[in-house]
Amino acid sequence: MNIDPALALLEVAATAQVLFVGDRIVDEYHYVTALGKSPKEHLITVAYEDQEVFEGGVVAAATHARSFCGGVWIATSPTVVRKVRMVDRVYLRKLFGIHYNQDQEPLELPEALDHFDAVVVTDFGHGQITPAMVNRLVALPNYLAVNAQTNSSNVGYHLITKYERADYVVIDEPEARLAAQDRTGKIEDVMQRLALGRYGKLVVTLGARGAIGYERGVFTRCDAMTQQVVDTMGAGDAFFAVTAPLARHGRMNELLLIGNAAGALKTQIVGHRASVTKPDLIAYLKAYAAR
Ligand SMILES: Nc1ncnc2c1ncn2[C@@H]1O[C@H](COP(=O)(O)OP(=O)(O)OP(=O)(O)O)[C@@H](O)[C@H]1O
Ligand SMILES: [Mg+2]
Repeated sequence: MNIDPALALLEVAATAQVLFVGDRIVDEYHYVTALGKSPKEHLITVAYEDQEVFEGGVVAAATHARSFCGGVWIATSPTVVRKVRMVDRVYLRKLFGIHYNQDQEPLELPEALDHFDAVVVTDFGHGQITPAMVNRLVALPNYLAVNAQTNSSNVGYHLITKYERADYVVIDEPEARLAAQDRTGKIEDVMQRLALGRYGKLVVTLGARGAIGYERGVFTRCDAMTQQVVDTMGAGDAFFAVTAPLARHGRMNELLLIGNAAGALKTQIVGHRASVTKPDLIAYLKAYAAR
């Protein structure tokens, strides 16, 4: 496999000034071990051991992009959505989660945005990006990249089609199917329907099956790059955050290759203990090509 075009593309973005816009989220992993059934209730009890607290949301996304760009800025809210996951200590399995997302304040978007090469929106749908802000974002002259996430708080109510226009969109397959109201049709048909008249480049990530891209009538597929998955949380965010600053100059082939490499690296990181970096990504691509 020739990875030279992907390596060249990474250099094109090295001076880009990029604004990340999105929800502020704290991800907490509370590590527990199972105790068994309570004798008094129909309830399984777990014993708490310890916890890790990570900056998630837009901050985690922007941090993935940092070593790939000339400058990365963040526009976010003064309030935080707290997401707690009870995680089985032994298998690193998430057992259940609690969202604390009441009373979110709108994020603060700078007045002047002209000087950014790209505006990258990670909209997790917790209300920090208001409808008025969406209108302002889609009217910007800047290169606009958007990722609108479905999560358990907003299923079906937070669709990518809120964004009437964008130059680059990355969503996962359930998000694409929900937005197109098509559960079983060919993913290509779903993508075409979503992209037409709206999105310049559209990528749908497919988890362990990699990703598929659409641009001007052409579909491109790229397989996933790892089988050693530790934690999939945020893999799509890493794919998006690393490729969005490159998307203006990149061809779909290279974007999918770099995105899948970023996703693969992220699946090997627990929570947000570490970020995807340019040196790690280049080393990963080289090792992959040399297999
Ligand atoms: N199980 C897996 N095996 C291999 N690669 C994976 C796996 N899960 C994710 N990836 C990589 O990460 C990319 C993004 O993953 P996915 O499609 O699950 O995104 P997502 O659902 O948006 O995730 P999140 O919203 O948690 O960030 C995939 O395109 C793939 O390259
Ligand atoms: Mg996602």
